[in-house]
Amino acid sequence: MAALTTIAEIGQHDGQEVVIRGWLYNLREGGKLLFPILRDGTGVLQGVMAKNAVPAETFEAMKTLTQESSLIVEGKVRADKRAPGGYEMDISKLEVVSRVPDSDPYPISLKEHGVDFLMEKRHLWMRTPRQAAILRVRAEIIKAARDFFDERGFTLTDPPILTPAACEGTSTLFPVEYFGDQAYLTQSGQLYIEATAMALGKVYSFGPTFRAEKSKTRRHLTEFWMVEPEVAYATLDDIMELAENFISFIVGRCLEKRRADLATIGRDTALLEKVKTPFPRISYDEAVKLLQEAHAQGKLEGRFEWGGDFGSPDETWLSAQFDRPVMVHRYPVEVKAFYMEPDPKNPKVALCLDVLAPEGYGEIIGGSQRMGSYEMLLKRIHEHQLPQEAFEWYLDLRKYGGVPHAGFGMGIERVVAWVCGLEHVRETIPFARTLHRIYP
Ligand code: 4AD
Ligand code: MG
Repeated sequence: MAALTTIAEIGQHDGQEVVIRGWLYNLREGGKLLFPILRDGTGVLQGVMAKNAVPAETFEAMKTLTQESSLIVEGKVRADKRAPGGYEMDISKLEVVSRVPDSDPYPISLKEHGVDFLMEKRHLWMRTPRQAAILRVRAEIIKAARDFFDERGFTLTDPPILTPAACEGTSTLFPVEYFGDQAYLTQSGQLYIEATAMALGKVYSFGPTFRAEKSKTRRHLTEFWMVEPEVAYATLDDIMELAENFISFIVGRCLEKRRADLATIGRDTALLEKVKTPFPRISYDEAVKLLQEAHAQGKLEGRFEWGGDFGSPDETWLSAQFDRPVMVHRYPVEVKAFYMEPDPKNPKVALCLDVLAPEGYGEIIGGSQRMGSYEMLLKRIHEHQLPQEAFEWYLDLRKYGGVPHAGFGMGIERVVAWVCGLEHVRETIPFARTLHRIYP
């Protein structure tokens, strides 16, 4: 009896009869031959059906089968250098599981469609080989991130998603009515994993985070997934080293395991090969000098003054100046979150870092050393007009055995966009949530 297998594993069955269960991706005809292209979620396979090798009704059923109908085929595997995956299948049996009706054909044809249309049909669009490859790279990046921390003595601790207060500024909070009280969807697990770090030493969280971003950029989602390490007794320097090792590990893993998918996506992997430690480190002050020169030379429009946050074009330009991620540290306290430790050498700047991915991808990591002093933290909470009662537990962490500690957060979607070389983060997550999209 023919063995059930998958397209990804078909190479183990060269010369044998196998069964593949999947969908019809495309169908070409050449006289007495049919060339159905099958997909099964693990890959794409070209089948060949010869008229004289099958009963007439089988040939007819194949010939008239509609795109994205589900089917089970049986046939012999044959190595063929010209075939995309290196193998073809001579199909001898066909079972149509569910036929897409001629009257209501699959809406995504193999010709070009606009992205708006494709996003509206996202539940179907993800079946195309390129989109499926992106989702596999995403899964690899998530696995790599977890392996990296698991292998280095970090404990995964899950922060809550429903929270009573802001972590990253009040302007992007999603309110939730919580049994008569006001609650919010979490913007970051950080504050909570500072607590778990004091209990367990080295911890990380990985989960969905939410920002009511009004900005309509290629980098912003309203719901995204963040991985956040937090380390007791760590300083800014410690987490800069952690961040560069982390990123190079992730890129290395994708090059090792996802080359075929990156090829399907059309990624130039030579650029990813360059992502080796150490990464360049520049202070915010140095970054400002570079930006001001670029503005003076007309490479960037407008001007840039010390003290501002980098706008999207600034960040794009800066990150395009390096062939590997660049770590920018010590931003002005004013443009950063309330919980960051000021630099003792210059309290106008915070002991923080942003990692900007190359090729203009911009920020993929934000992190810092955390405020150590109870009094200073309380002052900052008031300056930022945050409700003290919601932060009493957080202040306790400074009262009871506070230690220097630091951590960062990395947005999975931004990393997937960079590693895959995508124009927009909306393709990096199965169902993107943006300013104007909550369907499908
Ligand atoms: O720089 P952010 O806001 O930092 C924090 O949330 C810290 N509490 C993290 C920490 O120190 N534990 O966000 C961290 C990262 C960004 O660098 C970016 O990769 C991603 O999260 N990110 C977004 N990704 C997609 N859409 C958005 N709207 C994002 N906002 C942040
Ligand atoms: Mg940031």
